[in-house]
Amino acid sequence: MSDQYGGAAPTPAPKKVTVPDLVAMKRDGKRITMMTAYDAAFARLVAEAGIDVILVGDSLGMVVLGYPTTVPVTMDDMVRHAAAVSRGATRPLLIGDMPFGSYQASPSDALRNAARFLKEAGMDAIKVEGGAEVVETVRTLTANGIAVMAHVGLTPQRVAQLGGFKVQAKTARAARRLIDDAVALEEAGAFSIVLESVPAPVAALATERLAIPTIGIGAGVDCDGQVLVLHDVLGLYGEFKPKFAKRYADIGAAVTSALRDFDREVREGSFPTDEHSFTMKESELLSLQRSLAQQKAS
Ligand code: KIV
Repeated sequence: MSDQYGGAAPTPAPKKVTVPDLVAMKRDGKRITMMTAYDAAFARLVAEAGIDVILVGDSLGMVVLGYPTTVPVTMDDMVRHAAAVSRGATRPLLIGDMPFGSYQASPSDALRNAARFLKEAGMDAIKVEGGAEVVETVRTLTANGIAVMAHVGLTPQRVAQLGGFKVQAKTARAARRLIDDAVALEEAGAFSIVLESVPAPVAALATERLAIPTIGIGAGVDCDGQVLVLHDVLGLYGEFKPKFAKRYADIGAAVTSALRDFDREVREGSFPTDEHSFTMKESELLSLQRSLAQQKAS
């Protein structure tokens, strides 16, 4: 392509992914990719890979902040990290995950906290966990102009109540409840829904039933899209490896190996070499040495 003067025209910036784009992708049978990120550096890499959606997940609590569950994560934690993500990546749709306690007390509480993601952190949308019990909240948020992604199945904020990170909706009755909840969330205005740790046939039936895209994590290949936790994908989180998490690279091992090399080179005196050191003019050095010698002699 050339511009009006015959020179090479600048490549147009890739178009921002929007909420309607995701719904259109489902309609057009195009699969959606979503990845978590928690800081500007990784957000940039996720965007460069062409991923459609970045979720600033409350998994932050486990993979970055070192908590055993997502429960202790606060709204301030989330806003701080979400703002960093939006400084690193603009093209993907950016979603802030509402942490435990930020939306359960009342829809107005939820509205106030969700607005922080949009106003202070540059997020495009938010995500809440739960089924029928959050339908009213989803209705309030969407009625007030906030795009909401829902999340059913294994909802990690309820890990104590669920008795651990277990597969959900394994009986016909529980699966029916999950699908009914998903339909109610869609009717309340959710634009998409995460299905976590549910049998693949249940996710397939939910996906068929809904007009909004389903994003699976441990929910089989028939969802409209897939999400994984970045630190699982890159081998940066060793403590807990769910069956559904695929490690595409072992960056953790590469990091340890690089740091071992640094440790050894510093101890043996082979780092830094001249390549990583600064020099000064010979005349300045001589002058410095003379002044130090004079001081010592006096
Ligand atoms: O917090 C998170 O990372 C999530 C994804 C697992 C969907 O909710």
